[in-house]
Amino acid sequence: MTPKTLEVKQNFCAALENVSNMEQLEQLRVEYIGKKGYVTDLLKDMKSLSNEEKKTFGQEVNILKNEVNDKLAEKREELRKKEIELENSRMPEFDISIPADLKRGSYHPITLVQRQCEEVFKSMGFVVEDYSEIVTDYECFEALNIPKTHPARDMQDTYYLGNGQLLKSHTSAAQNAIYKKYKDALINEGKAIKAIFPGRCFRNEATDACHENTFFQMEGIMVDKNISISNLIFFMKTMLSEVFKKDIKVRLRPGFFPFVEPGFELDISCLICGGEGCPSCKHSGWLELCPCGMIHPEVLKAGGIDPDEYTGFAFGLGLTRLAMMKFGIKDIRDLNGGSLKTLSQFTDDK
Ligand code: PHE
Repeated sequence: MTPKTLEVKQNFCAALENVSNMEQLEQLRVEYIGKKGYVTDLLKDMKSLSNEEKKTFGQEVNILKNEVNDKLAEKREELRKKEIELENSRMPEFDISIPADLKRGSYHPITLVQRQCEEVFKSMGFVVEDYSEIVTDYECFEALNIPKTHPARDMQDTYYLGNGQLLKSHTSAAQNAIYKKYKDALINEGKAIKAIFPGRCFRNEATDACHENTFFQMEGIMVDKNISISNLIFFMKTMLSEVFKKDIKVRLRPGFFPFVEPGFELDISCLICGGEGCPSCKHSGWLELCPCGMIHPEVLKAGGIDPDEYTGFAFGLGLTRLAMMKFGIKDIRDLNGGSLKTLSQFTDDK
């Protein structure tokens, strides 16, 4: 080895000893084997050498270059290990042998009832649709045969947003979009529209044991040729007896909603007091559970469906109320209260 090569090598080894992080290591790499590095520089001296000398000197420089590379790699590995050790020492103690905390969360009673209804309707061929909570005036009212000045708007103390949109006051706000989504399959392929769409609704209500400003409904629609009120009653009764696991007494009263004609209120006998009368049923023995009716021709038209050819029913099931009935919850405010002690007592098999 020529004295010059030896000197470069020794200098490199000494400098490597002092390297304590990756940045310094990279610097050293560039300093020695970069384009203008000491090792590369050695080759400049070759010009003055004979061919034979060039060969040995070239080999010598190459060997040195490889050695430098190997030593750099070794150091890199050493530094990486140190970094990991340091990282680990900063981590909190983590003992994988400690048994897991078996206290698990629980589903909200409304989620439980919603899923159960979804299963029943899915088994009857309905699709489950999701829809936004912020909707337009058109979707929530106009498309449902409730023009700007219609008094029916007063019943739905609506929260309007600054931009003219609103928080949906009923799940019916999704009807128009769903008719439009499925109308082609109905008209061209004869596929009945059968959809349910659960959702959170908002109304500016004063809260008490049976009123909340935030509650859940589950809307359902079915449109085809020759759909009648009997179809509606059949689906409602089937769903309710599945949810409550027994035959449920229902009654239909006339009800007014501009988007159905005729319109009804479907009541079930109060399951909390057994029909005798209590605060939850306003002492009537009956609970308004599901307004419903035959879809108004104007509403079908707005959805792009010819009302002379097709008919359908719609219902707006009060999911919150249904959950209260099913689980015997007396105060609606408990559902939005967020108390885990209250909410975690409900399970699907009650
Ligand atoms: N959207 C109505 C409400 O919440 C309920 C309803 C739905 C009535 C479907 C008839 C048909 O007031």
